[in-house]
Amino acid sequence: MTTDIDPFHAIAISRLAHALKAEGRSVIHMEFGQPSTGAPPAAIEQAHRVLDADSMGYWESAPLKDRIVRLYEDRYGVAITADRLLLTCGASPALVLALSSRFSPGDRIAMARPGYVAYRNTVKALRMTPVEIACGPAEHYQLTAAALDALDPPPAGVIIASPANPTGSVIETAELAEIAAICRRKTIQILSDEIYHGLSYVGPQPTMLAFAPDAMVINSFSKYWSMAGWRLGWLLVPTEQVERARAYIGNLFLTPPSLSQHAGLVAMDQHEVLEGHIEVYRRNRALMLGALPGLGLKSIAPPDGAFYIWADIGHLTDDSVAFCEALLRETGVATAPGVDFDPVDGSRFMRFSFAVSTPQVEEALERMRPWFAARLRD
Ligand SMILES: Cc1ncc(COP(=O)(O)O)c(C=O)c1O
Repeated sequence: MTTDIDPFHAIAISRLAHALKAEGRSVIHMEFGQPSTGAPPAAIEQAHRVLDADSMGYWESAPLKDRIVRLYEDRYGVAITADRLLLTCGASPALVLALSSRFSPGDRIAMARPGYVAYRNTVKALRMTPVEIACGPAEHYQLTAAALDALDPPPAGVIIASPANPTGSVIETAELAEIAAICRRKTIQILSDEIYHGLSYVGPQPTMLAFAPDAMVINSFSKYWSMAGWRLGWLLVPTEQVERARAYIGNLFLTPPSLSQHAGLVAMDQHEVLEGHIEVYRRNRALMLGALPGLGLKSIAPPDGAFYIWADIGHLTDDSVAFCEALLRETGVATAPGVDFDPVDGSRFMRFSFAVSTPQVEEALERMRPWFAARLRD
């Protein structure tokens, strides 16, 4: 069995972007899905305060867990208990924890293609087998219950992400319920990555727990709470899996930084600041959607949530890595090549992140207009 995992090409683009910047070039970073806003000011103030007072030992914040329990009540109307929560250093270790504690090497794990690069690669690194389901315009770029049902034999697990990276597309509520029903019938463990919840332009998204109470749910402070570098997130597991997941987290990861837990707790109450970020993303999204057809990018995934545009560039290139590199070198706009997210068709796609400021989006579009026009003429 090959366990090789693929490189993350957007990291190479980002390295080049920083090298160009060091040479004095002006660079706009649209390659990573990383909010440019930073943590809410009240969270940073709290971090300053606790630095002097806290000994920063291993710690699992009970108040933070209680606050997350309340988030599920307030946001989704779903009751959970704090003992089912495991605090992690973001969604990435939560994914490793969920997969390693629940599945065995050789297990088949279904996921959408295109999809977040680490799903495929983490599954492979843990000696499991990714089963990628092609999801295009006909499927709203998302997993469907029918596609999952058609897998023979059924996979041991499925990773759901709604809104998704790199497309931003969401799964309709009725379809989520249908997916849950099929998974129940076929004993497929659901792993729902809800990292982009709170960032939706088509109304609030339900948690998978509403349809599948035994789903494992991942979330993180990296996106909605704008705290990527603080490395904080959680995994919610069904009661019968708590003991096993605890054994795994204790050995693999221990606890997230106590400083981040203090700050994260405060961030969870900063609604005004956080909703302000979404207004920026909403404006940026509208600007991008208004301008992309003029760049010749007419085929894009529905950006229902998150802060991404997944665009078909098949009429311009069959090498998205070279294309994104040329765009960066010639305009200073850094973007992510599609191959990271789709090993089969990604050479003709690219992803823009609009989690930057609105003036930066405007500037990026200004720079890209003549560049794309020249490519269209070639
Ligand atoms: C869908 C998805 N899941 C997980 C992650 C990892 O996030 P974290 O910073 O919480 O590890 C990302 C990061 O971009 C993501 O897009």
